[in-house]
Amino acid sequence: MKTVYALLAACAALASYYVYTPLPDTISDPWKLMFLDATFRGAQDLSNMAHYFGLGHHLRVLYFISTYFDKQDAASTDKLTVTDTVFDGVQVRIFEPVKRVGVLKRGIVYIHGGGWALGGARLRSYDHLCRKVAEDVDAVVVSIEYRLVPDVHFPEQLNDAHQATTHFLRPDVLAEYSVDPNRIAISGDSAGGNLAAVLCQQFARDSSVVHKFKLQALIYPVLQVLDFNTPSYQSNKDMPVNPRFVMAKFWLDYFNGDHSFVHAMLVNNHTSMDHAQAETLRARLNWNSLLPAQVKKHYQPVMQSMGTPHILQKIPALLDVRASPLAAAKETLQLLPKTYVLTCEYDVLRDDGIMYVKRLEEAGVEVEHDHYDDGFHGCMIFATWPTYFCVGIRTRDNYIKWLDENL
Ligand SMILES: *[C@@H]1O[C@H](CO)[C@@H](O)[C@H](O)[C@H]1NC(C)=O
Repeated sequence: MKTVYALLAACAALASYYVYTPLPDTISDPWKLMFLDATFRGAQDLSNMAHYFGLGHHLRVLYFISTYFDKQDAASTDKLTVTDTVFDGVQVRIFEPVKRVGVLKRGIVYIHGGGWALGGARLRSYDHLCRKVAEDVDAVVVSIEYRLVPDVHFPEQLNDAHQATTHFLRPDVLAEYSVDPNRIAISGDSAGGNLAAVLCQQFARDSSVVHKFKLQALIYPVLQVLDFNTPSYQSNKDMPVNPRFVMAKFWLDYFNGDHSFVHAMLVNNHTSMDHAQAETLRARLNWNSLLPAQVKKHYQPVMQSMGTPHILQKIPALLDVRASPLAAAKETLQLLPKTYVLTCEYDVLRDDGIMYVKRLEEAGVEVEHDHYDDGFHGCMIFATWPTYFCVGIRTRDNYIKWLDENL
């Protein structure tokens, strides 16, 4: 009997050691977040183990674990018609509010997050989000099911999203869905915010595109891969959901790069070298000049004197603005529509968002910056049972309100 108790106590101690992470008490629902984070880490450890034992690519296993209980059929209701279809070879899920004769609706292209490797338009979390947006804004929402790592890598995710969006913007397709060509937004969260920001730049520059986006709305977007030592990357490097190490590995997997580069990336040794193009791009995300003093605090920029040029030779996409829309030229930014950027305090990506706000403002773009002092990365999709976060509901409702008022 004693042995059983001792074993139980040991297990409980191990479990609490695994679950317990010290969190700032100003973060939304810290206890819930601690359990959510432990679930994520557990799933990641399991998939890394499976990878190690040759059972499959760790991201494929992680995708399997994270979607197993989370699939949602395209179920219509009396308010919405929900359909899965294909736009020019790319899967999409469409949410259509009840049509009214002679009335055009607004349209929203939505790109889900998940590190270019996880998530999906057909998952419960994103299905719920898009339903709510479609109902509350009374808009047609097209949620893109682009292909993921490890099936495809940069820039295929982007190309899928581009193809589906181009198809949707065709005059005959817009007419079929009764969408007003002058009132269409593009939006996405996290890695989907990265794809949405790049697409918005591409469509703005493309003179063959007749109907431009009226708005872009970016939710804690990933905007650059050149600096893993912004103040938010430094202060939140161990923050739940998306710690710095995990973010850098998502980037490497997106580029199909070698994981052994991750340590060099974390100390900014991947882009520090004396390389004309790297210098130009770095200058466009120089946080010393782009961030206000209260955000910079005591943090110092991290630059290596040497750099490791062979990483760039292996992954030239590190200097591609289709990966780092924050580093686009001012001439491109000037063409962008009215923008909404949502950032969270407890997120390595906070400063990516804040810097984009600043660069867009400098380029003359109208920007709404919505910052959450108690927010953490990914919070907006944690607004449904059982991961019901106070800040999840607030971010989602304010995002929807902004879309409704501005689209
Ligand atoms: C950066 O890379 C160079 C060349 O590979 C190496 O000599 C240097 O030690 C690296 N610096 C850090 C901080 O890792």
